[in-house]
Amino acid sequence: MTAGEEPLVLVETQGRVGLLTLNRPRQLNALNDALMDQLGAALLAFERDERIGAIVIAGGAKAFAAGADIEAMADWSFMDVYQSGFITRNWEAVRQVRKPVLAAVAGYAMGGGCELALACDIIVAGESARFALPEIKLAMLPGAGGTQRLPRAIGKAKAMDMCLSARMLDAQEADRLGLVSRVVPDAELRAHTLALATQIAGYSLPALMAIKEAVNRAWESSLSEGILFERRALYERFASDDAHEGMHAFLDKRSPVFTHR
Ligand code: HXC
Repeated sequence: MTAGEEPLVLVETQGRVGLLTLNRPRQLNALNDALMDQLGAALLAFERDERIGAIVIAGGAKAFAAGADIEAMADWSFMDVYQSGFITRNWEAVRQVRKPVLAAVAGYAMGGGCELALACDIIVAGESARFALPEIKLAMLPGAGGTQRLPRAIGKAKAMDMCLSARMLDAQEADRLGLVSRVVPDAELRAHTLALATQIAGYSLPALMAIKEAVNRAWESSLSEGILFERRALYERFASDDAHEGMHAFLDKRSPVFTHR
């Protein structure tokens, strides 16, 4: 970004919540390299900042993000994407974040925009939210995790339908299928998501990170391996100040004071 240029990602904090707003409204937040560089850097900065306990990624009213930037990609060669590590290089920063990441989705979440939301831990959808993986219309492929995360989220039959026919889901159907965590009126989306993130960020950060890690394990291992991982994570809780504080505060009938240790 050069001096005087609008940032492609707006960065704010509200208490222990870091809020990132995608900011290419004229292109419906189409995700180009510069935007994904800024998003990745901002995510990793919040990850390092011990004052931050949860992160929200929001888009605009008409679009969360309408996908990877088609204009930028149209003339790329195999060698261009291979050598630059397209997607891997900057889109996967969200995977490195151990703190909870919430997506606040209004309007279109298409292609890479849908995949970005899917990479978050919680999706709060406004009633206007629309989810699609329409890459097939371009003879492309949902290549930012879509073919892998979508079937895990909503099952193979529904995922195949979305990927092969470009079918778009509205917020209510996305809610029924388990693609989103909750649906709220558009006018309440930002406040609702920030309140949820504030609630989450008020809990013990190492406990949140352990839970996120364990839930993500459920996607990536057998049940018995996952249960073993969970049991170890449970035992580790007994090495944490916050877990003792949380249980004693309950017994003392007072609010816990977490130190995130
Ligand atoms: C670049 C985009 C864009 C995109 C919209 N725009 N989506 N530019 N890449 N993905 C631009 C349009 O060209 C237009 O620019 C402006 O944003 C407004 O869009 P309109 O099409 O005029 O708006 P509307 O008629 O309301 O339609 C909204 C829409 C449509 C249904 C969301 O824009 C659309 O279908 N967009 C493409 C969605 C898509 O195919 N996404 C997947 C991309 S591939 P101008 O200059 O004309 O005003 C992908 C691969 C991911 O994501 C995996 C590998 C990375």
